[in-house]
Amino acid sequence: MRTQVGIIGAGPAGLLLSHLLHLRGIDSVVLETRTREQIESTIRAGVLEQGTMDLLTEAGVGARMKAEGALHHGFELAFEGKRRRIDLTGLTGHSITVYAQHEVIKDLVAARVAADGALRFGVTDTSLHGIDTDKPSIRYRHEGEECELQCDFVIGCDGSQGVSRASIPQALRKDYERVYPFGWFGILCEGPPSSDELVYARHERGFALVSTRSANVQRMYFQCDPKDSVDNWSDDRIWAELHARVDSHDGQHVVDGKIFQKNIVGMRSFVSATMQHGRLFLAGDAAHIVPPTGAKGMNLAVADVRVLTNALNAFYVENRTDLLDSYSQTALKRIWRAEHFSYWMTSMMHRIDGASPFEQQLQVAELEYVTTSRAAATAMAENYVGVAAV
Ligand code: PHB
Repeated sequence: MRTQVGIIGAGPAGLLLSHLLHLRGIDSVVLETRTREQIESTIRAGVLEQGTMDLLTEAGVGARMKAEGALHHGFELAFEGKRRRIDLTGLTGHSITVYAQHEVIKDLVAARVAADGALRFGVTDTSLHGIDTDKPSIRYRHEGEECELQCDFVIGCDGSQGVSRASIPQALRKDYERVYPFGWFGILCEGPPSSDELVYARHERGFALVSTRSANVQRMYFQCDPKDSVDNWSDDRIWAELHARVDSHDGQHVVDGKIFQKNIVGMRSFVSATMQHGRLFLAGDAAHIVPPTGAKGMNLAVADVRVLTNALNAFYVENRTDLLDSYSQTALKRIWRAEHFSYWMTSMMHRIDGASPFEQQLQVAELEYVTTSRAAATAMAENYVGVAAV
């Protein structure tokens, strides 16, 4: 079987790339190890930058996001018993939309299926061949058969555990990594929102975040030991912890609901540079990971796809290779900006075991500054909405 662009992974990066290429008349096949049900139900983050919304709209998959997502013009930072608002729209002219990643996935899968796009689920034993030639191929097993997909380009959108990144020789690649000694305990619950806007809270017991999914489904998180197990956390214990960390801030009150999902995520910052080798290009989590604090993960994946779509289009339409050659360099500028922002926000908001009283006061001083100085608040806001200069 032959296609122009072989895409490994049906996350936001792989699906969006496939659909944008289709709209430009470029053929692709998407291979995914999981089932459609699995990718459509995996719970991830839910904040979309303006640029992400724009690209989804351009791809023709923005209707449900616009109808069901919630536009937020600011968020709150809670610390030292206070609540201070970051006025995203007032400071930057931009806002964000809260809309779950798996809803984006559902919209993209529906668009690919409606366009008769080639999408293979349940693929195993994927391997890449000839990526340093101009005839690369992907071998895999699907429904009991050995298959080979010949293509012009292979795009690795298969996340941090996928086969793609490992196909770039280690000697040509440098990995940058920071692992944080804490994780996030996430819950989904049925109930009304606790707040009109997201609340990021710094508390001596640890960080907490009040987010939302809809008028009757809420998303909340609290800092935990990454090795802890959800089985150790009864609903009562979870609510007690959220109340302790959030309610101490000036009139804020977490509204209890019926918890129907619990998970623990580890926190890591990671960048692979380069993001390309021969005819292989990496996008999204395959190349970089951010801790969830700045809500940048999916937005970075979408930003990679924007650069890659333009580069592939220039190749097929104008026979140009310059944009492909500079893909990694172009994408990495935005990636490193987001790496710094999410690391900075994580470091400012979390309880760090072993931190001295001096270091704790520095966190507070930084929070005071970003919530008092218009210049500092603007720097935070433009990073959050995704328009910081790179
Ligand atoms: C979420 O709603 O899942 C969410 C929101 C903001 C973050 C991270 C996650 O920074």
